[in-house]
Amino acid sequence: MSMIIGDNPVGIIGAGTMGSDIARLAAFAGRQVLLYDSNNQTLQRSLTRINDAVKLQVDKGKLSRTKADEALQNITAVPSISDFKECMLVIEAVIEDLSVKQELFRKLECVIPSEGILATNTSSISVTAIASACKNASRVAGIHFFNPAHIMPLVEIVQGMATSIGTLQDARKIIDSWGKTTILAKDTPGFVVNRVARPFYGEAIRIFEEGIADFATIDWTMKEIGGFKMGPFELMDLIGNDVNFKVTETVWKQLFYDPRYKPSITQKRLFDAGFWGRKTGKGYYDYSDGAIHPAPRKEKGLGEQIFFRILVMLINEAFDAWYYQIAARDELEIAMTKGVNYPKGLIGWGEEIGLLKVLEKLEELQNLYGEDRYRPSLLLKRLAKSQ
Ligand SMILES: NC(=O)c1ccc[n+]([C@@H]2O[C@H](COP(=O)([O-])OP(=O)(O)OC[C@H]3O[C@@H](n4cnc5c(N)ncnc54)[C@H](O)[C@@H]3O)[C@@H](O)[C@H]2O)c1
Repeated sequence: MSMIIGDNPVGIIGAGTMGSDIARLAAFAGRQVLLYDSNNQTLQRSLTRINDAVKLQVDKGKLSRTKADEALQNITAVPSISDFKECMLVIEAVIEDLSVKQELFRKLECVIPSEGILATNTSSISVTAIASACKNASRVAGIHFFNPAHIMPLVEIVQGMATSIGTLQDARKIIDSWGKTTILAKDTPGFVVNRVARPFYGEAIRIFEEGIADFATIDWTMKEIGGFKMGPFELMDLIGNDVNFKVTETVWKQLFYDPRYKPSITQKRLFDAGFWGRKTGKGYYDYSDGAIHPAPRKEKGLGEQIFFRILVMLINEAFDAWYYQIAARDELEIAMTKGVNYPKGLIGWGEEIGLLKVLEKLEELQNLYGEDRYRPSLLLKRLAKSQ
């Protein structure tokens, strides 16, 4: 149990996808949880969903009835945020809208104890902008879980412009005590994972758009040759092409239209068409009953070229995040292996291949296309030349 919050309950606002799973996680970590949602029906539905999911685990023999009952009793739905007055930690997981979040933080600040931590689970809004609504922004931090929050091991602890070191360390200790692996990230667009992973999707789509290979072949390549658990297109279909497009667009806009993050027309058209992936029954692949997925072209030479092009773009992104101190080197490695299940940390992977080889490939692409998209990170250049 964390010393920082003692026996005080944890407040969670927003009982949608993320809030429900965070409530479940905290309850299983032995915390008293107060859960609130402005939509009472959603709140009740969330409790039912958590109960049903936990019951299923008991039925499958994966969890003891006693442990399940104890955890479920830890969660209380509350009708108002004024019930949060004893919460030393509140995690906000409401809709992704700056003014809604600011309004909440403004109110919360007056409700919780003065030493309490206010955290946001936002994936794309600046923590600093949310915190600016508070008189004391030093106790506001980002606690960014991945979906599903009770299963995914990684949590990014995000430092806003005004977040105090104490707040950051306390937030980290609490989430560590819930069994998660935490990394510290600067408040920059996409934080770590959603920024560094962009080329996995973007470069794969680019290769598809250029007609170099179809998506089944690219997926096969990244799994068979690259050792990734899923290919980019099947992963985008799982995440949702609506969500993935929005994340890409947001990161690109917030990085002042840096061409490295530019979304693609293919992604936009899938979004426009409602081909959002598994959830709509169609994305890059067709998920209707009896649909036959296209067969990949299993050509090793072609596969190796595709894999290397995507990998060097990912490695470049990781070096740039390291260079700009968005996270420490070892934490960048943890982020990509624990957050998105990459087979290896990208910086170490680059060193294993040889940084000069990675740099030469990026320079070759940059010369060939004449695009800033392929510009190598300064840190990669420096280290490659000194290796
Ligand atoms: N879904 C993901 O994969 C994911 C991953 C990481 C982070 N996030 C972030 O988590 C947050 C929540 O996302 P989600 O997918 O759970 O959304 P969701 O739409 O499933 O849930 C949002 C909930 O917030 C409630 N809500 C809206 N305004 C409110 C208010 N003023 N007060 C109280 N409740 C309010 C809604 O009724 C809804 O139940 C967002 O900031 C999102 O960016 C989402």
